[in-house]
Amino acid sequence: MPVMISPLRSLLTDDSRYQKGYQLFLDRSTEIQRMQDFINNQLPDIMSSTINGKSNLNVIGVGSGSGELDLKMFSALHLKNPKMRVDTEVVEPSPQQLSEYADLVSQTPDLDYISFNWNEMTAEEFEAHWKQKKMTKKADFIHMLQMMYYVKDPGATINFFHSILNKNGKLFISLLTGDSGWAKLDKAYGKRFRESGMASVFMDDVKRHLDATGLSYQSYLLPSKIDITECFTDGNEDGELMLEFLTEVLNFSQVCAPELKADVMELLRHGCSEQSDGKVLLNSNYEMVVIDQLPQI
Ligand SMILES: C[S@@+](CC[C@H](N)C(=O)[O-])C[C@H]1O[C@@H](n2cnc3c(N)ncnc32)[C@H](O)[C@@H]1O
Repeated sequence: MPVMISPLRSLLTDDSRYQKGYQLFLDRSTEIQRMQDFINNQLPDIMSSTINGKSNLNVIGVGSGSGELDLKMFSALHLKNPKMRVDTEVVEPSPQQLSEYADLVSQTPDLDYISFNWNEMTAEEFEAHWKQKKMTKKADFIHMLQMMYYVKDPGATINFFHSILNKNGKLFISLLTGDSGWAKLDKAYGKRFRESGMASVFMDDVKRHLDATGLSYQSYLLPSKIDITECFTDGNEDGELMLEFLTEVLNFSQVCAPELKADVMELLRHGCSEQSDGKVLLNSNYEMVVIDQLPQI
């Protein structure tokens, strides 16, 4: 069986390389456009029963990154309810991302209706901190966009954040679908790529957890693609970075045994992607689930 050439390090151990990879992924993917459409066309309606008549909205953004999507969501909700104030806890472990988020806030006009509380920590640390301080505050809107892959126990994290929703509050989670091309790659090789040997989590796992715990939710499919053509040009720097981002392995081409890399490239080209106009487009369909906190009867 093909093996990795050690040492194998997760891309996440090099935050600045991870963030570069994430930016490249955003440039090559239709994800942000899909999310933008969702925010403009669906979010305000989904949130209407939560925000109607509210003078203050308590928000928690978990793994918000550099905050672009957070600000777009606030703006869409503000249009619907211009008098409502927003109080948001930003939970993000990367200092670089938090500082970019703070810069974006300082450069964006007309955000006086929002107050930001910065928490440089993981979702798990935030939970511990919340419990230790015996916080009684509840949230109306919690979002966890494309971050559940990095959480140690997704079921426990969902249960905790659901437990601090206000009545009529909503918890939004987005993740790749289990049958997306990217998930196929991960299901085939992810355990070998990860030092922990753990499988990653995808939306089918989250839905199984929600069904098992009886939490009520709606789901929205967000079809998306990533242009990975450059991965197939030897020595192309962006292609190499994209491979690191897709596999989560730092310096993937250097640490991966050649036969294993050949298998990965074959799966990427023929098992997970479509070819169009000379481009290789990886299926990165993802899904948003919106979990309700139904009013108590
Ligand atoms: C793929 S980015 C998504 C950023 C943003 N939510 C978006 O959709 O544009 C994942 C983010 O999760 C953060 N993250 C990683 N591990 C985390 C954890 N255990 N708890 C909270 N956030 C985490 C990363 O630092 C990164 O900013």
